[in-house]
Amino acid sequence: MTLLERLKIETRTAHDRIETAIDLDRRIASRDGYRALLCRFYGFHVAWEGMAGDFAPDPHFFRRRCKTDLLVKDLRALGMTAREISRLPRCDSLMPLPAPAAVWGSMYVVEGSTLGGAVIARDVERRLGLNAETGCAYFRSYGRETAVMWKSFGTMLLTASSPEVDDLIVETANRTFDVMHDWLCEAP
Ligand code: HEM
Repeated sequence: MTLLERLKIETRTAHDRIETAIDLDRRIASRDGYRALLCRFYGFHVAWEGMAGDFAPDPHFFRRRCKTDLLVKDLRALGMTAREISRLPRCDSLMPLPAPAAVWGSMYVVEGSTLGGAVIARDVERRLGLNAETGCAYFRSYGRETAVMWKSFGTMLLTASSPEVDDLIVETANRTFDVMHDWLCEAP
């Protein structure tokens, strides 16, 4: 079994837990609720990118996948000022990444969220009428490139896989899901 297959199986419970707890229908029922959800995602990604960037194997590969700018674009489109955005709470409960290999487990969760994001983007468009220019760039993320980006992430991840580090990568993925869960789902 490849590391990608292991990750999918061994984090399924954590994925399903977050998918249920995020209560998307309620959050995107109104523009205000949706904006509040994006504020929480911003707080996660800005903190995560600051930390994970230090361990990233290839700065170009990592930067291309950063999502904070998309969130800023959405929040601006939804009426927030740059100053308000810069003062949003940031996720300070991030797990430390004790070893460079751990970044792969964490990045697996962040990159995989773009797959669900494509589904969420369709709901946001249908419910709130927002597109990539008017407040839904983050969930659209890589747009038509989503499958290609996921595949190339998987290829890179497999080059990092080895019997010595795979357990750590899976464990970090599960911890990342937990941190995200607490940050996104326990918010008001
Ligand atoms: C912040 C919350 C979420 C995170 C971090 C997350 C993370 C992930 C990850 C890591 C994968 C990759 C699974 C694999 O290895 O193939 C994935 C796939 C997926 N997720 Fe999520 N997800 C989240 C929320 C959601 C939500 C709310 C939905 C439903 C609207 C959803 C629907 C999906 C779908 C449809 C896939 C693709 C499954 C496949 O192609 O096999 N996710 N997600």
